[in-house]
Formats: sequence, C-alpha cells, structure tokens
Amino acid sequence: MTFAHASDLHFGRSVCGDVAARRICEAVRSARVDVLVVTGDLTHRGRMEELEQFWEAFGPLARTGRLLVVPGNHDRLGDDVADEIQSGARVSSWLGPGLGIVRVDSTGPQNRRLVDAWGELSARDLDRIDEAVDALPDRGVRAVALHHHPLPLPEEGVSERVARLVGLRCGRELSRGRELVRRLAGRCDLLLHGHRHLPSEAIVGAGGPRPLRILGAGSTASLGWMRVFPCEGGAAGEPRWLELPHHQRPPLRLPPGLGAPITSSIA
Ligand SMILES: [Fe+2]
Ligand SMILES: [Fe+2]
Repeated sequence: MTFAHASDLHFGRSVCGDVAARRICEAVRSARVDVLVVTGDLTHRGRMEELEQFWEAFGPLARTGRLLVVPGNHDRLGDDVADEIQSGARVSSWLGPGLGIVRVDSTGPQNRRLVDAWGELSARDLDRIDEAVDALPDRGVRAVALHHHPLPLPEEGVSERVARLVGLRCGRELSRGRELVRRLAGRCDLLLHGHRHLPSEAIVGAGGPRPLRILGAGSTASLGWMRVFPCEGGAAGEPRWLELPHHQRPPLRLPPGLGAPITSSIA
C-alpha cells in the first residue's frame, strides 16, 4: 500500500498551473501509487467550474475510490464548494489495507473572504477527531489530513509579513492546532496539511513508540514534486519525493532543514 500527498492545486489560477496539476494524476497512475490525498485549495476562487475541472482531471482516481480530498480556504470563496468536496461533514474516515485516514474540514465561514484565510477547529471538532482516530485499527498506519497548518511556520512572503505587522490573523496557524497535535501525539503517525505553499516537516515525540510526523505538502503544482509514503507492516515508511512528469519549473526548492526533520518540542 502506498499513498501520495498533494495540496494547493488552485485550479483556475493559471493555465500553466492547471496543466501541472493535471500531471499529478498522471504521475500517481504511472508510479502505481494506490491512493492520492489532496489537502485543500483544490480551486483558486471557489467556483463550481474550477471544481469541475478538478474532478475531470482526477476522475480516473476518483472513480476507482483512490482519491481523498478535504476543502481549503480558497474553496470557500465564490460559490463556496467546500460541501461538494467533503459532503458537509467536518470529520470523516477512510479505511484501506494497513492504512486509515481521518479527513478534517478545517475551514470556517470567515474563509468567505480571502483576507480571513485562517483555519478553525471547534472543541466538538477535536472530540470528533479523537473518536475517529480511536476507531481506526491500532496496528495500521493512522493519518489525519486537513488544510491548515497546525503549528506556526515561517512566513513565506511579503504579504504574510505585512499581514502580521498590521495585526491580521490570515497567516496564523490553525486555531486549536496545538491542542490537536497534543491529542494526536502518540496515537497517530501522520498529520498531513497544506495551506502554506512550501513543504514543511516536524516530528513530535521522536524516539517514542509512535512519533507523529507533521508534513506540509506545499503547492504541488508549483513545486513539481510530492511525497509518496509506503505503508509496510503497519508502519509508515520513509516518504520519497515523486516528480511530476514534464514539469517545466526549476528543480525542487526546499526550505533549509527540510531534509533533516525538525524535532518539535510541543509534546
Ligand atoms: Fe493555497
Ligand atoms: Fe490555503
């Protein structure tokens, strides 16, 4: 069993971006990856026609039950297609051989405005995630997938820096993100997210019996790369980076330190 993690495709933003996003499906199929997880911002302006482009591009995976998606803040703009992406459920589970994934909708009504991009979880959402994780088989790989980053990350550009300086919340981490990480530590193997467009990685509880890896995919269509995870013997193996075919962008640019996972002290 293998699965790939992509994010932030932003269908409708540019022709080049849409072409690159379509190659993700091609790459997954040619590398014989079993399942693709896409953690939100499927569309750029939340328009139904953008979502239809996404479904059309990923139809071969969706029709065979090999595609798992969650909404991102951009999907709440325009026509607000979040419910089309996750059927109105804040938390839902998917189970495959040796792998269980809890899908979480981390968006909120504030995401109707682009400037209010942050994610929110309620106390009830956290309880539902707890229940869903507990219901997954203990002996398989347990993963949680959502859009917003749960812990603070370095600012990625001038707009995020300006937003912080003027006191806007839009670049901030998920509300109750730290609480989510505390609850998942030791019970879950992977916390997969998007939102930030550069990839990131942290480990909580390294050296313990069940370390939690927190992995940001970055914007896959821009990067041209995505992680692929093997699930062997009930454990998630070391991910490898799979390159999109015919990608016209420069080689993978990773933030400093990404090759050597950062150990978070949150636990
Ligand atoms: Fe995004
Ligand atoms: Fe986002």
